[in-house]
Amino acid sequence: MSIPTLPQQTSPAELAERNRAIAWAQTLYQWAHSHTYSYEGKTLVLAPIAVLEVDDAHPLPEGQNLNVVQILEILDVGLSLLSNAIINVTNLVNAGAVQFDPPPPASFGQPAPAAGGMIAAFRAKVDEVVEEVGHVIQDVEKAAHASSDAEKLAKLLHEHQGELEALGRDIHKALAKGSATPKESASFSAKLGDILKRIIETVLEAGLADAGLFGRPKAMTDYAAQFQAIVVPNVSSVSITDAFFARSRIAGPNPLLIQKVNALPNHFPVDSARFEALTGASLDAALSSDRVYLVDYRALDGMIGGTYPAGQKYISPGFALFALDEGRKTLRPVAIQCGQTPGHSTPVFYRDDGESWELAKIHLQSADGNYHELISHLGLTHLLVEPFVVATHRNLSPNHPLFVLLLPHFQGTLFINQSAITSLIQPGGNVDRLLAGTIESDWATVANALGALDFNAHMLPNDLEKRGVANRETFPEYPYRDDAVLLWSAIERWVGDYLAVYYNDDAAIVTDMELQAWYQDLVSKDGGSVNGLGEAGPRGEMGLFTYKYLVNVVTMVIFTGSVQHATVNFPQHEIMSYTPAMPLAAYAPAPTRVSGPISQKTALAEMPPLEMSFVQLVVGQLLGGVYFTRLGQYDRHQTKPYFQDPRVKPLLDAFQANLREIERIIGTRNIERPCYEFLLPSRIPQSINI
Ligand SMILES: [Fe+2]
Repeated sequence: MSIPTLPQQTSPAELAERNRAIAWAQTLYQWAHSHTYSYEGKTLVLAPIAVLEVDDAHPLPEGQNLNVVQILEILDVGLSLLSNAIINVTNLVNAGAVQFDPPPPASFGQPAPAAGGMIAAFRAKVDEVVEEVGHVIQDVEKAAHASSDAEKLAKLLHEHQGELEALGRDIHKALAKGSATPKESASFSAKLGDILKRIIETVLEAGLADAGLFGRPKAMTDYAAQFQAIVVPNVSSVSITDAFFARSRIAGPNPLLIQKVNALPNHFPVDSARFEALTGASLDAALSSDRVYLVDYRALDGMIGGTYPAGQKYISPGFALFALDEGRKTLRPVAIQCGQTPGHSTPVFYRDDGESWELAKIHLQSADGNYHELISHLGLTHLLVEPFVVATHRNLSPNHPLFVLLLPHFQGTLFINQSAITSLIQPGGNVDRLLAGTIESDWATVANALGALDFNAHMLPNDLEKRGVANRETFPEYPYRDDAVLLWSAIERWVGDYLAVYYNDDAAIVTDMELQAWYQDLVSKDGGSVNGLGEAGPRGEMGLFTYKYLVNVVTMVIFTGSVQHATVNFPQHEIMSYTPAMPLAAYAPAPTRVSGPISQKTALAEMPPLEMSFVQLVVGQLLGGVYFTRLGQYDRHQTKPYFQDPRVKPLLDAFQANLREIERIIGTRNIERPCYEFLLPSRIPQSINI
């Protein structure tokens, strides 16, 4: 890689070469605005979405495939989940004790390989992985004597083991000659994905469901019992208490919705006397002193409850109202309405309403889980970054400074999004299984969220301001905000410093034809269709005119692909994989009247059956358990410094020093506040790659 340059600074010959590279990229990176599924004799269309076109005629470009290190990271997590599934099977078929005393590994006692440290370690890892699969399969074989279903399961897993061993041999071969080519990596990642998917399906479908070993939980502890070979998340020690419900809004998987209100929505008729009795403050006084907060799930209002084999699932796109105490120390929920339209069947419940209050909280927590996965996670991180990846490849030459800056922040995104579209959110896939709505209404929710996006308003400082939660005086406890603003500022400074190396003034922005084409492609309805992207120009027209705005846009893209994705992705592992903390659908209707004290039986009826919670466990642990790359560490997994321009080094040093300081600040905060670790820079990958 040579020193990056702007197109206007290059010679005609260099310009011709840049244009040739861009023209080639445009044959590989083309836009699609829908994805079609054939399902149960019907044709279903996911649209409108702006994504990379991938089909038989347009394979995923080679550079977009996962690399072998990443494959092993995923395999590692997949294997611990496989072990966990196997123990569930062996326990359930009552085959006796699960034995985990494998023979010593073949490498034990042998001299360490002499040379090629990294490759040798890699080979050892492959061996370890294959061996581990062998052990878990042995366990299943023991279980096979107890049940014909388990026997069937063992046979299927045996077949998969053979394939996994073959994959291990292929990786060895590729490494024997030095490193894997992009084509080989692509084939490894495709094979790995396929094998893991089939192993998990085998365990779930052949093993657990066929054997009739799942069904309704008999006690809440049944959910924690599904964590056998993996650590049960800390949240399993609490139920959806008022404190947990409030904390979920400021430090949970989706801490992005809470807003200050100075007036209540007309269709959420909270009784001011009940409010005052519960909070000790009149509703008007609390509203006017910035102590009343709201979450509003109206974006889910169009969702239609889906079904599962045994019946109906339910979604409650309602409201929850919170109040800060006078000292502004504690946020507590006060009232909940389980739908957008008030009335007899959708009353407002209050904190002292006993069982109906507890059930209403479960419904709203579940609504938050749906909002989280469809809008905050899939829509506003994965699918928001996708058009930027495509437009960057289509319009910026690989020697453009912005291309160089953004590339590491796009690593793996197209691959994982493509996997999500073709697998995770396909009809009958895990999102269809787990979430509350029909898959078509899920898609519509995602598409509507992207359609309604105002790109500029969604930038962190603007978003916090708009929601009325930017001020630490009036809303003191908000861990997501406190950590995220530090990271936004650090990224903004880094982006600003970096771009200032290449752009001396606003004129350089306007005369950069690659950058201008990039912008036009991003906002075009035939291209990225990114809503609200742009700044007003001298004649009021929308465009990209200034260095300052470019810094904002690039900060937003990098922040979304790293910090914002980490905010919503990793709680899938730490919180959501334990289903009762955030059930992804309710399995009984929302309460319609005030009832007596809560009984565990009623609460359990709302909760997902155990086969659903097992899938939620697997998906949450897998998607939230892979940390590949680290924010600001551009040289990781590289053989030489990523940035070749010597002017960049001191700027990058400053960015990395900033991130270390933020790590320290958050570490100190976590001693003084209830721990919120999702935004420690050391836990934030560079890009959306899972
Ligand atoms: Fe993700």
